[in-house]
Amino acid sequence: MNSPAHPEIRVFPPASDTVARAHVDAAKYQEMYAASVNDPEAFWGEQGKRLDWIKPYSQVKNTSFELGNVHIEWFGDGTLNVSANCLDRHLATRADQTAIIFEPDNPDEPAEYITYAQLHRRVCRMANILETLGVRKGDRVVIYLPMIPEAAYAMLACARIGAIHSIVFAGFSPDALAARINGCDAKLVITADHAPRGGRKTPLKSNADAALLHCKDTVKCLVVKRTGDQTTWIADRDFDYNEMVLEANDYSRPVEVNAEDPLFILYTSGSTGQPKGVVHTSGGYLLYAAMTHEITFDYHEGDVYWCTADVGWVTGHSYIVYGPLANGATTLMFEGVPTYPDASRFWQVCEKHKVTQFYTAPTAIRALMGQGDEFVSKCDLSSLRLLGSVGEPINPEAWTWYHEVVGKGKCPIVDTWWQTETGGHLLTPLPGAHALKPGAAMKPFFGVQPVVLDPQSGEEIPESPTEGVLCLRDSWPGQMRTVWGDHERFEKTYFADYKGYYFSGDGCRRDEDGDYWITGRVDDVINVSGHRMGTAEVESALVAHVAVAEAAVVGYPHEIKGQGIYCYVTLMHEQEPSDELKKELRNWVRTEIGPIASPDVIQWAPGLPKTRSGKIMRRILRKIAENDFGSLGDTSTLADPSVVDDLIANRANT
Ligand code: WT7
Repeated sequence: MNSPAHPEIRVFPPASDTVARAHVDAAKYQEMYAASVNDPEAFWGEQGKRLDWIKPYSQVKNTSFELGNVHIEWFGDGTLNVSANCLDRHLATRADQTAIIFEPDNPDEPAEYITYAQLHRRVCRMANILETLGVRKGDRVVIYLPMIPEAAYAMLACARIGAIHSIVFAGFSPDALAARINGCDAKLVITADHAPRGGRKTPLKSNADAALLHCKDTVKCLVVKRTGDQTTWIADRDFDYNEMVLEANDYSRPVEVNAEDPLFILYTSGSTGQPKGVVHTSGGYLLYAAMTHEITFDYHEGDVYWCTADVGWVTGHSYIVYGPLANGATTLMFEGVPTYPDASRFWQVCEKHKVTQFYTAPTAIRALMGQGDEFVSKCDLSSLRLLGSVGEPINPEAWTWYHEVVGKGKCPIVDTWWQTETGGHLLTPLPGAHALKPGAAMKPFFGVQPVVLDPQSGEEIPESPTEGVLCLRDSWPGQMRTVWGDHERFEKTYFADYKGYYFSGDGCRRDEDGDYWITGRVDDVINVSGHRMGTAEVESALVAHVAVAEAAVVGYPHEIKGQGIYCYVTLMHEQEPSDELKKELRNWVRTEIGPIASPDVIQWAPGLPKTRSGKIMRRILRKIAENDFGSLGDTSTLADPSVVDDLIANRANT
């Protein structure tokens, strides 16, 4: 079906079998959505019953977006334990059901099927180990692990004793790890000897060793043996998980925490400064993760659900661990990469475990699409019922390939827009309720009130179609509560630009049907392979090198990654530019931040376009990187307009 206003946009109404099975159809969506925004207290008060509370809440919502007084509190007087909600309460009915399927990097290694009863025992043992190591309620624990079940045990063990975890993606460098350990003043780091990935091994323990040189010497290190390869060992600082687990008691009493006690901190990049610690709390977050997991993915008993993200990102928190386990689901954890041993790995795993819901990122879809259809068609994907996309806008070509070649035209695609800050999906089509449009994130989830603002005036634009910045008018239970240790930064980042709203940092379009299309970041954050990167972070890494005087970093369109990292670098006086030096700078950024921040392009810039007050005009740098010289706009305010001609003449090939 085509959209009447835009014949080139295809519209896919939900199939009748999808509607029949779905938790929510079109009429129910209308009714529930209206209820959720007309009376949030009543709506969320009712939804809160999805969780088991130790002390039931009497208050539901206590929130304010008013600058200077921003506070977000849900179920504020309720108490619960998150791990008990993910484990103990399922034991009576699903002790022998698989909770986690672990699929290792190497396809010749056997998969592991961990039941709820086993998961419960292993989490309890881990919780007891943490207590032995001195971790108590409210303490911070940094988790720096590969995608192995121990990562989930560690998260849930922290939750069990009321400790706050902060996962650092295993692709981050020792420096980045150290900054996060120190940022939240962690007592303990949990790591592994090595992380196998795509047939290679990342030396996590030696990265942790390097990081810990820059941390307090009281920080302990718990090491999971994943490969068994030798690592260095420091007595009284390093502890062997595999040895301790043999002795650990397999019951640990879940600690009672307040709904608003922090569950985790997750560092994420912003447009300025160093990464900030996004704080999520226990009650509202878990409820929101569980509810969105069930409804967006239309999860039913017996399904096998697979989210390919890493637990180092929020997607892994909400949609590999907390949401699915709170719902008593079977969730698959994959240690590897989409292209190892070859480009059919994802689809082989779907076939092997009869996956019903599959959730991945556009960058993976684009990479696999380029390898040809045979890698998909040789696998039996008949178990698939629904596909999901997350992390960046999905281009219609990738959407269509995903829909036709992977989903055989039968699986709805939920394009879920959300952020580390939002805890769970905010905009997404619901499979049984909404028609799909390739590339559109479509509709708000329950309780979510998106608004499009005029970026200059900050006024709401009520009519459609329109385009502007995407803000949220009111709170939802999964919203972040603060920036760890810096509430002022929280207010300044999200509530200062547009008074009375939460500002997402994204631009969007709302079409004549009222459906939302995300157009990408409007700030200095770029999205590389679905990973969020602050250009300021890459710049500060570059200028930390002795040869670099100044650097400006922007994104540019990249066929696979969505955006690539384009760096303009001004060298120190008398420093000779060379290809060698480019290589060195690339490696430098990799060690400062991690491989995910690796510059794609470095262009030597004898000068950068600056205003007379010295502000770098990134708009111009972005246009040059995008190869779009026709619309550089007004350059007359530049201190030295000729630098622009030089940059254009020497633009690097992308
Ligand atoms: C940014 C948040 C949410 C988990 C993964 C990323 C972009 C995310 C979509 C989507 C268009 C998307 C936005 C957002 N983004 N999902 N479906 N369509 N853009 O979390 O690292 O916090 O990044 O990712 O720009 O602001 P994150």
